[in-house]
Amino acid sequence: MDENLAKARALLAAASRIAVLTGAGISAESGIPTFRDAMSAAGPPQGARPPGGERREATIGGDHVAGPPQGAGPPGGERREATIGGGHTAGLWAQFRPEDLATPEAFAANPKVVWEWYAWRRERVAKAAPNAGHTALANLERRAAHFALITQNVDGLHRRAGSRNVIELHGNIMIDRCFAEGRVLAAADELPGTPPRCARCGALVRPGVVWFGEMLPPKALEDAFAAAQGCDVFLSIGTSTVVEPAASLPFAALDAGASVIEVNPTRTPLSARATIVLAGAAGEVLPRLLG
Ligand code: OAD
Repeated sequence: MDENLAKARALLAAASRIAVLTGAGISAESGIPTFRDAMSAAGPPQGARPPGGERREATIGGDHVAGPPQGAGPPGGERREATIGGGHTAGLWAQFRPEDLATPEAFAANPKVVWEWYAWRRERVAKAAPNAGHTALANLERRAAHFALITQNVDGLHRRAGSRNVIELHGNIMIDRCFAEGRVLAAADELPGTPPRCARCGALVRPGVVWFGEMLPPKALEDAFAAAQGCDVFLSIGTSTVVEPAASLPFAALDAGASVIEVNPTRTPLSARATIVLAGAAGEVLPRLLG
C-alpha cells in the first residue's frame, strides 16, 4: 500500500487535469449506507426484479457520451434501505420495495407515500456530515489547475465539504423539482407528509433525484465524459463500478490515456485495469493520498 500510495501521489503531483468519480462508499463513513453491500448482506426482496441497469454490459448503450440509453434506469440502488430490515429502516418503510417507490409512476399513483419516504431519507442526509474523504477532495480542488468531481451520490456532502465543481449525475435529494416541467424549484413550504405544488403550474413537487426509468441529466453526463476523457489522472472512489453510465467513466479515462487510481476496500470490475488500486476506506486513504 505504501509503495502504491507513493506512486499515486507522484501521478497526482505531475497532473494538471484531475477528474474524480465518487460513489456511495465515500459517504459510508458519514453514516449514509452504501447500496450494494447491504443488498448482498440482506439479499434481494422476494420477487424483486433483477437489478435493472446494474450490470455494465447490460445497460451501456452505444454512444454514451451523448447521453444514457433511453429508459436506462438508475438503479436498484435505492433498494438498500428497504431490504436491510430492522437496522436503520423505519418500520413503516420496511414493507415497501424502493424500486416500487423511486419511479415517476409510483409518485403519480401515490405522491404522499413517495414524498414521505423521501422526507425520511432527507432527514438522514441532513443529519450527516462530510468526512475526511470529502474534505481531502475539496482541498485537492483548491490546488489543482483543472478539476472536476463527478458524483453518483445524491447527498450533497461534497459541496458541504467545500467542493465547487461538482457534477451530480443522479441529482440531489435536497432539491425540489416540478413533477410536470422538471424545473428546479426554491425549497417549498412543506406541510409534513404532503408534497407541495409548483407555484407556477400547480403540478406536484418531487424530489430532485433520478428515478428508475429516467434519463440522467444530459449536461451533467456530457460534462462528466468530457472531464474523464480530458484528464491526466482519474480517481475512482467508493463506487462498485457497475451502474451505467457512470461505470464507464474510468474506462473512458483509461482509453483516452489517463492514469486511473481506484480507492475502494473491495475489488470492482475496474480493479484489474486500474493503474493503481489503493485498497482501503476513503476516509483513511484520501487524507494520506492528498494531504
Ligand atoms: P454501491 O453500493 O454499488 O458501491 C459502494 C462501493 O463503495 C462498494 O464498491 C464498496 O466496496 C465501497 N465502499 C464501502 N465503504 C467504503 C469506504 N469507506 N471507502 C471507500 N469505498 C467504500 O454504490 P455506488 O457505486 O455509488 O443510483 O452505486 C451507484 C448507483 O447505484 C447509486 O448512485 C444509485 C444506485 O442505484 C441512484 O440512486 C440513481
